[in-house]
Amino acid sequence: MFSFTYFYFPANNSPQKTEFSIIQTIHCVFDLRLMRCRNSQGLPLLLFTCLLFSYYYTCWHRTQYINEGLPDALVVGVKKSGTGALRSFLKFHPDMNFNTGEIKFFNHPWNYLRGYRWYVNQFEPRTKRGQIRVEKTPEYFHFESLTRLIWLMNPKLKVIVVVRDPVKRTISDHTQETVSRKYGGTIEQKLLDRFGNIDPTSELLAPSLYAKHVKRFLHFFPRDQLHIVDGDSLIKNNPSIELRKIEQFLNVSNYFTTDKFVFSQEKGFYCFNATNNSQTCLGQTKGRKQTPVDDRVVSKLKHFFKRHNQEFFDLIGSESFDWR
Ligand code: A3P
Repeated sequence: MFSFTYFYFPANNSPQKTEFSIIQTIHCVFDLRLMRCRNSQGLPLLLFTCLLFSYYYTCWHRTQYINEGLPDALVVGVKKSGTGALRSFLKFHPDMNFNTGEIKFFNHPWNYLRGYRWYVNQFEPRTKRGQIRVEKTPEYFHFESLTRLIWLMNPKLKVIVVVRDPVKRTISDHTQETVSRKYGGTIEQKLLDRFGNIDPTSELLAPSLYAKHVKRFLHFFPRDQLHIVDGDSLIKNNPSIELRKIEQFLNVSNYFTTDKFVFSQEKGFYCFNATNNSQTCLGQTKGRKQTPVDDRVVSKLKHFFKRHNQEFFDLIGSESFDWR
């Protein structure tokens, strides 16, 4: 049975071309059973059965909803790299039906168990026929078990990843956690081990290990279904440059021209320039003043990321980032 289930998972970059079929539905069910059997010794049989049925229900419903409204593309991350800016701009595109909030469908087990029907209902109705449906939840990127669920939903899905200098991303993540007081502590406490070296298992670092996560996505999705956005370019340059590349990737019309953006001196970032010349800038939670970080910690981070960054560039076949 194990070889049977393994056979139906993509073992390399070439995805299964077949549509989701009854065989894949059966495979979902058996695969879950195998995983749970290995990891859940001692769990009550009832819980196992409930999970099995919920999973089966979700797999089965995918066939019902794939044509009706499941997303065609996902912005899966990376948090603090400009995913909010991307959404705030892309939602103006007439050919896109971009969800307003973060649905967190795959990373919240309760949402996932509610099934595809619930997921589809979270999107606003399409305002135009043929609009492509897009959602962004940055946690999809670095939670490892989610990639398989995403692939199962739609093997033809287009995946968008925004990356930023991993040192800046890590510091920005720390600032956000400090401001929102998720958990206190200095950046040194979060990043360094007792010898003062970078602790590779630090939670703060996890999303910045781009190569590790992109490699996993490339195991499920072919390279041409994955688009990398340069988050630093989104900040420094007119956003239309990166947005034009996304339009090409998603095969939609060219809407974002340079004149659609204006640099706001007050905000210190580009804002969307609506037709009536009113500017739409991001809120106060984007573009915060960063918490100061000791230069020694910054250089330790730079050194730590060097190897990971090189691996990332090799994977995506590009070095056009100014943090290489
Ligand atoms: P900082 O707050 O550290 O400056 P995310 O939306 O993924 O959480 O990313 C937040 C980051 O988006 C911000 O990080 C900011 O630098 C960046 N960003 C990119 N374009 C922006 C824009 N037009 N307005 C505000 N922030 C922008």
